[in-house]
Amino acid sequence: MVGLTGVRKKKTAIFISGNGSNMKKLIKFSKLRNSPICVDLVLSNNKKANGIRYLKKTKIVSKIFNFKNNKDEEKILKILKKRKIDLICLAGFMKILSRDFIKKFNGKILNIHPSLLPKYKGLNTHERVIMNNEKFSGCTVHLVNSKLDSGKIILQKKVRINKNDNPKTLAKKILKEEHMLYPKAIKKLLSTT
Ligand code: GAR
Repeated sequence: MVGLTGVRKKKTAIFISGNGSNMKKLIKFSKLRNSPICVDLVLSNNKKANGIRYLKKTKIVSKIFNFKNNKDEEKILKILKKRKIDLICLAGFMKILSRDFIKKFNGKILNIHPSLLPKYKGLNTHERVIMNNEKFSGCTVHLVNSKLDSGKIILQKKVRINKNDNPKTLAKKILKEEHMLYPKAIKKLLSTT
């Protein structure tokens, strides 16, 4: 697919595990004429993910895998190769990809994480941030390398934490920022590669 600028849009696969609100925003973004990506495929480890249900209303192909062993990853790599996927966006994807898989897509896997990395890697970020009485949190889009939430940071957005915030209200506030940050980060990455 060719965008407004005449440049071929990067074929993108999104990996999700749950609600898929970031996925929906990326799909919307991909449909803009000047977007550098087109969403070709969505993969999930969870067939009951809300995001997968949503895709039934679209023409986007979705596939479910356990992501439990190398065999799954081999099958996935074959599909990605066959569909000529240029970019993978992890969007609320809660599985850890193998070192080998990451190597094969080196520099082409993005993740969004709900904290100001390198602070609060891993799970339950909002709970830990609130418990530590932080004044700020936020979200980060980064390249994926073999260490958890540690690849090169592409963009971050800071969010102020109010006295009344709890993990739920903070998650909601940050998610809203994530929806704007992910497309910006993709534009930034693809304008420099
Ligand atoms: C988002 O907040 C995302 O940053 C987070 O899960 C949520 C998914 O929401 N990802 C991680 O914690 C990855 N370690 P969504 O399914 O509505 O996009």
